[in-house]
Amino acid sequence: MQKEILLNNNITIPCIGNGPMIPEYNTNKFLKSNTPVAKLTKRAYNKFYGRHKVEANYIDAVAHSFQAGFKLLDYSSSYGDGSLIGKAIKKSHIERKDLFLTTRISNKAQREKTVRECLMEQLKGMGTDYVDLLMFHWPVTGYHLDTWQQMIKLYKEGYCRALGVANCHQHHLEEIFKTSDIIPAINQIEIHPLFTQKALIAYCQEHNIQVEAYTAIARMDDRLVRLPLLKEIARKYNKTIVQIVLRWHIQNGVIPVVRSLNKGRQIENISIFDFVLTDQEMAAIDSVNINSRLRYDPDNCDFSIL
Ligand SMILES: NC(=O)c1ccc[n+]([C@@H]2O[C@H](COP(=O)([O-])OP(=O)(O)OC[C@H]3O[C@@H](n4cnc5c(N)ncnc54)[C@H](OP(=O)(O)O)[C@@H]3O)[C@@H](O)[C@H]2O)c1
Repeated sequence: MQKEILLNNNITIPCIGNGPMIPEYNTNKFLKSNTPVAKLTKRAYNKFYGRHKVEANYIDAVAHSFQAGFKLLDYSSSYGDGSLIGKAIKKSHIERKDLFLTTRISNKAQREKTVRECLMEQLKGMGTDYVDLLMFHWPVTGYHLDTWQQMIKLYKEGYCRALGVANCHQHHLEEIFKTSDIIPAINQIEIHPLFTQKALIAYCQEHNIQVEAYTAIARMDDRLVRLPLLKEIARKYNKTIVQIVLRWHIQNGVIPVVRSLNKGRQIENISIFDFVLTDQEMAAIDSVNINSRLRYDPDNCDFSIL
């Protein structure tokens, strides 16, 4: 049975989430680049897969994730307008109130739109009149504090049940504390055993900010999935390495957001509530840390390409 976690504004959130990034999304930037190679690839891609087929498979996979037990959905306006998510919700026959829908204001939207415009597009696409959690995607220098103020207005108007941030270091959070009387309910950051971020997690926990982990299974990085330690623990509990890592997050008080569009792997990823890692096993997995960030550092990245 999965747990619910109480947020600092007294609403609850499921303790694990699915982040169904659209498969095309990763290649989108390349395809949009309009180089001769990109044009050729796009033509081949469309011919081979067919956009509608990719979308139908996507809707089916997201609907299945809800049915498999993932109530928390992690989305962002940078992944699309949410209309495929809306179709997946309908297909799943799960009631809106039984889901916890999250979306984020993308970096592009922070620069080019109002938060209201961006959120309204998402709500329309998802076929709902509120999200459970609204976050900004990155603390885009020169924009995120204004984005946060705009998010507060929408929260007060009831368009979202909680407000959060993503990719914030301690100094970003301190900036928000100085300029706002609302403390983010969530900080979504990269965490996995190769990059444990213990100090930032502790800081968030001290300030009553719930931490969510993205890239929670390190995108199946070889340095993680080949570890004899994880193989041994997995064997002991008759679980997979991914299940051990997801369980480690939960016992650390962190909400893992994991991506899978594969039905079998979705069931695998949610089946982690029938065993408990010992303190020694938790400490051993903690010690795998090599401070290896796989995604971007918010203090050292080009926000315009994220
Ligand atoms: N806030 C941010 O800036 C930010 C940044 C990155 C990601 N995110 C969020 O976090 C989500 C997940 O992060 P991520 O996509 O970086 O990486 P991830 O969840 O660590 O890894 C996803 C990869 O692992 C595979 N996988 C999932 N479960 C598996 C299992 N049980 N066994 C074997 N392979 C498995 C998936 O393939 P299959 O689909 O084939 O199973 C996929 O290729 C994203 O979708 C997004 O919602 C947020």
